[in-house]
Amino acid sequence: MIKTSVKADDVLKHKTDCLVLFNPEKNPAGLLKQIDGLLNGALTAAFKAKRFEGKLNQTFEQSVRGLMGADSLIVVGLGKSKDITEESIRQAAGTAAKSVEKSRHKKMAFFLDGKDAGKPGKAKKSQTAHPVAGAIMEGAQLGLYHFDQYKSVDQDNPPSRIKEIILLVPGKPQVTAYQKGVDQAGKLCEAVIATRDLMHHPSNIATPAFLAKAAQSLARKYKITCKVLEKKDMQKLKMGSLLGVAQGSHEPPKFIVLEYKGGKAKDPPVVIVGNGVTFDTGGISLKPGAGMDEMKFDMSGGAVTLGTLQAAASLKLKVNVVGIVPATENMPGGSAIKPGDILTAADGQTIEVLNTDAEGRLILADALIYAQRYKPKVLIDLATLTGAVIMALGHVACAVVGTDSKLIQQLIQSGDATGERMWELPLYEEFEKAVKSDIADLKNIASKGVGAGTITGAAFLKPFTGDYPWAHLDIAGTAWTSNEKPYVPKGGSGYGVRLLIDYLKNLSS
Ligand code: BES
Ligand code: MN
Repeated sequence: MIKTSVKADDVLKHKTDCLVLFNPEKNPAGLLKQIDGLLNGALTAAFKAKRFEGKLNQTFEQSVRGLMGADSLIVVGLGKSKDITEESIRQAAGTAAKSVEKSRHKKMAFFLDGKDAGKPGKAKKSQTAHPVAGAIMEGAQLGLYHFDQYKSVDQDNPPSRIKEIILLVPGKPQVTAYQKGVDQAGKLCEAVIATRDLMHHPSNIATPAFLAKAAQSLARKYKITCKVLEKKDMQKLKMGSLLGVAQGSHEPPKFIVLEYKGGKAKDPPVVIVGNGVTFDTGGISLKPGAGMDEMKFDMSGGAVTLGTLQAAASLKLKVNVVGIVPATENMPGGSAIKPGDILTAADGQTIEVLNTDAEGRLILADALIYAQRYKPKVLIDLATLTGAVIMALGHVACAVVGTDSKLIQQLIQSGDATGERMWELPLYEEFEKAVKSDIADLKNIASKGVGAGTITGAAFLKPFTGDYPWAHLDIAGTAWTSNEKPYVPKGGSGYGVRLLIDYLKNLSS
């Protein structure tokens, strides 16, 4: 982890490798104008030449050695003042931090002039933590994420990493609120980073047993209880749908249950179910070879569930949360399920498996049935369920489909606030009909010609949710990325942790 702290210091004299200042899309004013003077007008010259105009994520870099306390200065654009939100601050901070690291600096300091910060979103009344401080630290720490555990270090050219980030504030009175924002962001980022790490491990390491161990160790570290059901327990519970998927693999399945009790004993919990397919070959309905390696990320929903429980516990949120992760591989072994097979889920509903590659919904069925024993306040599942969601929404938003419009609206709002956006797709009756089988209760793919793959995936899940308010998040397009974003490097994003924590925070305040 990178060391973080808040200091009241003179921004012109503060000693650091690189100082970062923010500039909206307008000519340098206030402090920046003063600094421009120290630099003989270098910043205004950059504006004139349109090299730097304060556009979001634009950067201006300059050595200030001898002129200021810092060695180097980076000014990062925030975009138009009226459009500045916590999201643009996160992005600008991520962009700046990566650029500082690229220049091989080790220590950096951010300074955000209150006047230039614009309106940082709607800061909640009860929230004494400074939202802008949090946004800066989130953007920086998440942008600087690396997964290099499997790489040998090049002794001649070791990678350069930021060791310390300081947030400078104009005076002592601001320190407390900023510090609280920095601390909360640190806990949240730690959970997002743990989530990303779990996702990046290859499937020969991140097996169902590995996920179960990760859950147990996080339960020990935080105030969470953890229970792991083994295959024989699943047999006792008649989880035929989950066991059907698992039977093609030599890796034993695990059914992970985490309970965090931060609310009143009698409060019904928010139950989060995360898909834990640790590798999806497609099974007998085998996937094509190209890009199949990405299917190590098919446990993203499960990783996000563990990360959310970790963050809820470390932030001591006053809510009860249960996390459930059914974990298995989807392999085409000799005893694998075959197209046409019929499975019976734990509640007795029968499922005709017409495509063994639609396995996520099969394991979620038994997990959603299990979730009902908690009489949840709301039931939320996350899964990399369909390639179709990428057709609909690309890699910029996940899809939400569900049965409770209040829950969906609250989730959408949290998605907007955290930059983890979602878009609702309609669960029309036609789609529910399309997953009824001729010879069983349900079939795991829709009738030919229906289309709407993401919605029919959700429609399959609905009969397993009881009458509980339910929302399904299809994160297949957002769980990992092959093009870097300002604070999401290539690879697993951890998408979902920050949005769910915002939702849980709103519930508890
Ligand atoms: N894990 C995949 C979905 C997926 C595809 C995630 C591409 C990310 C990128 C899921 O298990 C799957 O294979 N779904 C099938 C469903 C189909 C057989 C109805 C799909 O989307 O092709
Ligand atoms: Mn599949």
